[in-house]
Amino acid sequence: MKCTVCRGPAVMDVRRHNANFCAEHFLKLCRDQVAKAIKEHRMLEPTDRALVAVSGGKDSLAVWDILVGLGYDADGLYLGLGIGDYSDASGEMARRFAADQGLKLLEVDLPADHGFDIPTGAKAAKRVPCSACGLSKRHLFDEAARTHGYDVVVTGHNLDDEAAVLFGNVLHWQTEYLGRQLPVLPERHGFPRKVKPLVRLGEREMAAYCVLRGIDYIVEECPMAAGNKHLGYKEALNLIEAASPGTKHDFYFGFLARASDRFTPEAEAEQDLLLRCARCGAPTTTELCAFCRLAERASGGRA
Ligand code: AMP
Ligand code: FES
Ligand code: ZN
Ligand code: ZN
Repeated sequence: MKCTVCRGPAVMDVRRHNANFCAEHFLKLCRDQVAKAIKEHRMLEPTDRALVAVSGGKDSLAVWDILVGLGYDADGLYLGLGIGDYSDASGEMARRFAADQGLKLLEVDLPADHGFDIPTGAKAAKRVPCSACGLSKRHLFDEAARTHGYDVVVTGHNLDDEAAVLFGNVLHWQTEYLGRQLPVLPERHGFPRKVKPLVRLGEREMAAYCVLRGIDYIVEECPMAAGNKHLGYKEALNLIEAASPGTKHDFYFGFLARASDRFTPEAEAEQDLLLRCARCGAPTTTELCAFCRLAERASGGRA
């Protein structure tokens, strides 16, 4: 196997691009794809202060590394969600990367700062853990960006994640979500801008990026996510992709180019808010925001 660019020995194939790469040209491909996504979707300005949400996994550590390499001013944010050993190990990965690279990492600890962990919160609110977790993460990202004056929140969602979410939303025709499934959500109603610079890269590529860059990441998936629908959608798409490389890319980017606009009105209607949460001041449609309601239920009304 030879590198498509330099004809040297290749270490990685990317079937979607029908190409093979040596380490140097593979790393360049990753940086180029991120730069292209940023430019095409106008994700970041050179002067932005970015807050990268880092979970300790491959995607978020890779996106942080790439953004810093491209010259962006990017600090990290790690959320301790109180998911036992998994949270301890993932926090350690995020801290170690930040220390090795001399980067600034902010931390929020859900149990210490808000009095509950994800397993308890989910149980009390009768939600599946990933739903309580997703809403808590979004809330804590927004709050940290607001409090510390960042222009934009960056997450490590990659092409596999976005294609799987799109697939699920299409299967159930969740049209209000389809209108919001974009690589950039502009700042509005007191929410910071949110961007996903890895939308042009897949999971396998991000793992290879970390290995080639010597970045240590937590390999295990969250133990609470086992058996969730999202993982099933990913597996189904992987089968299709194996038989027909490039399908995920066409599905997701075809949606952005030809269909996502059609769902904007429904997403906008949902956003016609907005009050301020009586407890934390976050933008919300109800008196207390969803996060504060979750915190109240988790503490049995004591919060
Ligand atoms: P997930 O929801 O686990 O698929 O993660 C999606 C993205 O959310 C990751 O790529 C990170 O950018 C961010 N994220 C997930 N978990 C955490 C965490 N504990 N702390 C900070 N960011 C996180
Ligand atoms: Fe959220 Fe596991 S990371 S439930
Ligand atoms: Zn090469
Ligand atoms: Zn609130």
